Amino acid sequence: MQKIGVCGNGLMGSGIAQVAATSGYDVVVLEADQAALDRGMKRIRQSLDKFVEKGALQAAQRDEALAKLRPTTQLEDLKASDLVIEAIVENMPAKKDLFQRLDALLAPHAIICSNTSSLCVIEMAAVTKRPKQIAGLHFFNPVPIMKLVEVVKTIVTSQATIDTLFAVAAKLGKKPILAQDTPGFIVNRLLVPYLLYAIRMYESGLASKEDIDEGMKLGCGHPMGPLTLLDFVGLDTTYFIAEIMFDEFKDPLMAPPPLLKRMVLAGQHGRKSGKGFYDYEKA
Ligand code: 3HC
Repeated sequence: MQKIGVCGNGLMGSGIAQVAATSGYDVVVLEADQAALDRGMKRIRQSLDKFVEKGALQAAQRDEALAKLRPTTQLEDLKASDLVIEAIVENMPAKKDLFQRLDALLAPHAIICSNTSSLCVIEMAAVTKRPKQIAGLHFFNPVPIMKLVEVVKTIVTSQATIDTLFAVAAKLGKKPILAQDTPGFIVNRLLVPYLLYAIRMYESGLASKEDIDEGMKLGCGHPMGPLTLLDFVGLDTTYFIAEIMFDEFKDPLMAPPPLLKRMVLAGQHGRKSGKGFYDYEKA
C-alpha cells in the first residue's frame, strides 16, 4: 500500500486525505467540481497550519504532506491507487455508481473502502467484481484529531483485506476496531440513540439545552454535550443515520424525534448552516 485515493474532499474526505498524506502516502483526492476541491484543500492547509502552530508538526512536515497530495476532478487519476477510500455524499445510488466505475478502473489488487456511517457496505460491494476486497473504513470527525477508525467487514470481505486495513489504519496513527456491516457499526449504534434521547429530553422540557450539555460534560467527562455534538456532527447527518438505523432495527430509541425532523426541514443543520441547537456566526 503506497498510493491512496480519496473520493470526496468534504469534511471527512479532506480529513482522510490530510491524515494519509501526513502519514507518508501518495494521495490523489477527487472531487466532482473545482470549487469543492479547492474548499477541501483550504481546509487541509488550515488544519496542517494549526498542527504547526501547536508544535505538533514541523513546517517541513506540513510542506511534505502538502506535496504528497494531488487534487483532481478526474476519476482516471485514481487509476494507480492501491486503496481508494470513498467519502462522497451518503447516497446509495451515487456510491454504487462510483464503486462500479472504480472497479473497472483500478488494478486487480486494489481495495475499495467506504467511509459510510450507516449505509450497507455489501450493497456497494455487490456491484463490483471484487467483493472480497471491499470493506468499510469509518473515520470520526474531526478526522485529523479523532483516534478511532472502524474497519467494517461485510459477510464476504476477506481476512487479507481486513488485515491490510488494520495495518493502514495503524500507519495513519489511528486505532482500528472491527465492526460488522450493520447500520451504525459500533460507535453510532451507541451514540445515535444517546443523541436522539438528548433531543427528546430537551423537546419534552425536562431540562434546558445548556443543562443537558453541562450535565454530560461535567458529569461524564464528555468533551462536548450531546446537543453541541449534534450541531458539530450535523443535524441532517444524524437524522439520516437515525432513519437508516430505525428502518433496519425498528427500535423506537432509534426513531428521529419530531423536533429533529423539523429542525432539519427548517435548514437548521448545526454549525455548518450557522444554526442548530445553538447559534454560530458564519466565518
Ligand atoms: N485540525 C487540527 N487541529 C484541530 C482540528 C482540526 N480539524 N479540530 C480541532 N483541532 C485542535 C484545536 O486546534 C485544539 O488544539 P489545542 O488543544 O492544542 O489548542 C484542539 O484540537 C482542541 O480544539 P478546541 O480547543 O477548538 O476545542 P475542543 O477542546 O472542544 O476540542 C474537539 C474539539 C476535538 C472536536 C472535541 O470537542 C471533541 O473531541 N469533541 C467530540 C467529537 C466527537 O465526538 N466526534 C465524533 C462525532 S461522531 C462521528 O464523527 C461519526 C459520524 O459518522 C457521525
